[in-house]
Amino acid sequence: MKSPVYWHPLIYSFIMKLLYGKYFEARYQAIADLIPKNATVVDVCAGDAYLYRHYLKAKDITYTGLDINPVFVRAGKRNNISFIQHDLFRDNIPSAEYVVIQASLYQFMPQEISVINKLMDAAQHALIIAEPVRNLSESGNSFIKLVAKYSANPGKNHPTNRFNQETLSACFRKFKELKDVKTIDGGREMIGIFHK
Ligand SMILES: C[S@@+](CC[C@H](N)C(=O)[O-])C[C@H]1O[C@@H](n2cnc3c(N)ncnc32)[C@H](O)[C@@H]1O
Repeated sequence: MKSPVYWHPLIYSFIMKLLYGKYFEARYQAIADLIPKNATVVDVCAGDAYLYRHYLKAKDITYTGLDINPVFVRAGKRNNISFIQHDLFRDNIPSAEYVVIQASLYQFMPQEISVINKLMDAAQHALIIAEPVRNLSESGNSFIKLVAKYSANPGKNHPTNRFNQETLSACFRKFKELKDVKTIDGGREMIGIFHK
């Protein structure tokens, strides 16, 4: 069953704010800082497109969101955002100067290398991968632990694998295009920046 967190963009946003707390905005700001004004961006597994609505729109970015969840696709379209229903396992990725994937790569384990290759092929200038490296379902806070544990299923499968700092760094280092690695404030997510 699809986790309740994916039933509606407002529920999704509420849960994400709860999980990330004071570091919620920093996760988007860190990505927006890497993308220049007027660029073209494809956001894979875009969720509620918070990145675009609150950060990229103001930079006159030409944006396309992709997500498998029809609830997010409908909500994006209602907000006049270019949004396509898309299964990253199966569908082609439209090309853009910047391809972004945030908090989503774990869902494709153990096929992360072929998925990164596919993302890289679609990126004309850079691929930006932001990924959690602290599993919140192992949090010391029992409420956060419970929410994180039951919030992972987008509808098709329930991903149980997660990266940590070591495994994500090792994965990033397999790509000759890797230019930089950053840690987002709070240390819960790491960003890999890959230049073509
Ligand atoms: C944790 S959310 C991240 C959303 C957004 N990038 C963010 O950081 O807030 C993971 C997203 O991946 C999407 N997703 C899961 N499997 C997918 C697939 N096979 N193809 C495309 N999107 C998928 C889910 O619907 C969900 O919106």
